[in-house]
Amino acid sequence: MKIAVLGTGYVGLSTGVCLSEIGHRVTCIDINEQKIQQLNQGISPIYEPGLEKLLASNMEAGRLRFTTSLSEGITGAEIIIIAVGTPQADDGAADLSYLEQAAKDLSPNLVQGSIVVIKSTVPVGTNDSIKKLIESYTGFKIHMISNPEFLRQGSAIQDTMKADRIIIGSENKEMAEKVKAMYRPLDVPVIVTSTRSAEMIKYASNAFLATKISFINEIANLSEAVGADVEDVAKGMGMDKRIGKAFLKAGIGYGGSCFPKDVKALLHTAGQMGMNFGLLKETIAINEFQRELLLKKAVKRFGDLQGKKIAILGLAFKPETDDMREAPSINLAIALSKLGADTVAYDPVATENAKKIMGDTIKYANSIDEAITGADAVFLVTEWDIFKKHNLLAILEKMKQPIIFDGRNCLQEEKIKACRKIEYYPVGKPAIIIG
Ligand SMILES: NC(=O)c1ccc[n+]([C@@H]2O[C@H](COP(=O)([O-])OP(=O)(O)OC[C@H]3O[C@@H](n4cnc5c(N)ncnc54)[C@H](O)[C@@H]3O)[C@@H](O)[C@H]2O)c1
Repeated sequence: MKIAVLGTGYVGLSTGVCLSEIGHRVTCIDINEQKIQQLNQGISPIYEPGLEKLLASNMEAGRLRFTTSLSEGITGAEIIIIAVGTPQADDGAADLSYLEQAAKDLSPNLVQGSIVVIKSTVPVGTNDSIKKLIESYTGFKIHMISNPEFLRQGSAIQDTMKADRIIIGSENKEMAEKVKAMYRPLDVPVIVTSTRSAEMIKYASNAFLATKISFINEIANLSEAVGADVEDVAKGMGMDKRIGKAFLKAGIGYGGSCFPKDVKALLHTAGQMGMNFGLLKETIAINEFQRELLLKKAVKRFGDLQGKKIAILGLAFKPETDDMREAPSINLAIALSKLGADTVAYDPVATENAKKIMGDTIKYANSIDEAITGADAVFLVTEWDIFKKHNLLAILEKMKQPIIFDGRNCLQEEKIKACRKIEYYPVGKPAIIIG
């Protein structure tokens, strides 16, 4: 099939690359000229494991192209996928301005009966309103399909190629079949629903996962207070098939480009319908509390952080991505700097993006060693593998004081217990103080 994808961000690019990998001829379109230039040289503008390799092979095979020209990308396309951003507006709602602009931009290139698919996460009713908007520009009917995306950054390729399910929201069976056919080589279960149900499935899924995280975080705080170990609690809970072990990892809260904004957007929708979705309010409140946890623990331990050298390990909102959107490290770094701490951060891939957000609020190191040397405390913020695998004794030796606040419970307890001198403060379980 000939397919056009609008937006070459984490979702659009991963989708475009994967669709070309399964044999389609894909043209990815973006308004960002720099991104398109980079992509045309085979360079991925984002860090996503496995992406660049597939990008190169599919470009070489002539199945994948990049352009800023809508007419070039859309003319003759059997399916047009929109994957532009839908960030959070000031009132918590989803900001649909990029989507509306994309709808306007693509309209002159459509023909009667074109199939336009919205992959961006959009509030219930958006597919209907964008269909009307496009038809007001074209003057003829088009088909609108909701096809929300569930990939996770850091495993986007794997998640697309081996998705748990594909949701197709359509009021027209024949058109749903066409989109289904596009995905057929993936051999993934497909559920066809109404467009409104498809839109709701996406928000309900993300809100549920965020709530699961906040739930285990609140259990973690309670476990800490009563002397239980949240890791054991989560293991014991997760083995119950009705609960499942995923998303039961206690820590300093969820972040990223999806959960925070999607939970707020769903809450906003509920408000518009006159509903008080108190559960979601609590999910958000717990997450905000959790983001300050390491700081509170450090203030309790040191009293005053003025002049203390704090090493932050990990800036990205999660491992295997360079995405800094809503990363818990941001609030933490800003708060540490306000309290007068001398803060140095290291992240294997997200530093350049972090600098764009935090500027010189903190210092940035080029290695773990550079960040931790002379530190009064380490804050483990993102559970990158290299932090887990790094020689703990070597870290402690280089620090001024061997104090670690582990916001992701990612260091192994046996290794900590084998140290001669350490103060280790995890989340939701007893601190380990030796020496
Ligand atoms: N990032 C994720 O993990 C993820 C997962 C599932 C769903 N989503 C949803 O998918 C959507 C996209 O997210 P993302 O993280 O890929 O966003 P992103 O910000 O990384 O990328 C959006 C891209 O769209 C481009 N763009 C904006 N307006 C355009 C236009 N008129 N024409 C062409 N391109 C245009 C931007 O230049 C940018 O490259 C959002 O709705 C998001 O909620 C994201």
